[in-house]
Amino acid sequence: MQKLKKLIIKLIETTQRIVRPLFIGSPTLSRLYYLLFDRAFGYEQQAILKAKIQYEKHQGIQDNSSALLRRNIHRLEKGLIMRPRKKVFALDYIEETVSVYLRAVSLAHFERSDLIWAHSVLCQFFAVCDVEHPIIKASFAAFKAVDFDGESSSVPYSSSERAAHEISPKQFKALCKTRCSVRWFEQREVERELLIEALSMATEAPSACNRQAFEFMWIDDEATKQQAVKLPGGTAGFASQIPCLLAVVGDLSAYPFERDRHVIYIDASLASMQFMLACETLGLSTCALNWPELHTLDKRAAKLLNLPQHKRIVMFIAVGYALEEGGIPFSNKKSPEKLLTHPDLNKRD
Ligand SMILES: Cc1cc2nc3c(=O)[nH]c(=O)nc-3n(C[C@H](O)[C@H](O)[C@H](O)COP(=O)(O)O)c2cc1C
Repeated sequence: MQKLKKLIIKLIETTQRIVRPLFIGSPTLSRLYYLLFDRAFGYEQQAILKAKIQYEKHQGIQDNSSALLRRNIHRLEKGLIMRPRKKVFALDYIEETVSVYLRAVSLAHFERSDLIWAHSVLCQFFAVCDVEHPIIKASFAAFKAVDFDGESSSVPYSSSERAAHEISPKQFKALCKTRCSVRWFEQREVERELLIEALSMATEAPSACNRQAFEFMWIDDEATKQQAVKLPGGTAGFASQIPCLLAVVGDLSAYPFERDRHVIYIDASLASMQFMLACETLGLSTCALNWPELHTLDKRAAKLLNLPQHKRIVMFIAVGYALEEGGIPFSNKKSPEKLLTHPDLNKRD
């Protein structure tokens, strides 16, 4: 049976290799190849379709949070800091912004700091824009009609007002050099307060239009953790002694368009890097764990972690106190000179 399975796999791989060059002439042909010979993208495409339907259902508001509101308020802020600032802007999205803001205000459980930010920025927008413009006028009337009880302090500020930091390049370089992937840990718990502290630094990471459509899921139930930790193939041999496991999860339903399907991976990874460096400053070590795009694994993880298909695992992160005698691979890095490239290097002969 095993032999037959191996033979079939080999046959499929050989066929794929032979026919592949015939399908690279155009995107349509490539699509046909994946339709006929390879199912690699099927589950992801289904996830994206389900995410779009989910988006249409919730219209930008997920539980107590709205990626759409954050995106649009961010766009208004960019308009407000524009040099020179226009008297009329945001015509194509002010109505949508006020509408999602009003829906958010009506929800008792909506994230308060996001409401304060949205309210503050909208107040400033209507204060400086031409409110006699018909589109802005209508949105202003709708905005004014609903009371909001809160400060108006979360508005754009000048660069000179930024709080100074005291980290020298030497210190930061030392932190970057000290951080490494740790796979052997002391068998003790990681305190929740430390995770929260590290996340308070991770959350400062940039994200596309400030949508922040990701979460760090703490798998703290021991039995679930023991199953989850074995799912990423790269944990073989050290899985069972990982004391704390996080799944970094992105939510595709925060985006109405396919063009944004990679944003969850970029944004969540930027935050993950900050999280891992933050852990280092708190005496904790980490190891990012690969999550390959395999629908069989996705299905198992989804069942174990109660994830709807539109919520995608970006990676897992092992966290813990490094075992002093635990080994660390040398992991040589590219030189900075090699990292800095130039378009000319890709010119064809
Ligand atoms: C996205 C990602 C996935 C990774 N997956 C694994 C993994 O599955 N197993 C593992 O042992 N290490 C994993 N690593 C750790 C890498 O092997 C490690 O970052 C790399 O060798 C460089 O070493 P350093 O982190 O110590 O600098 C992963 C790292 C990243 C960024």
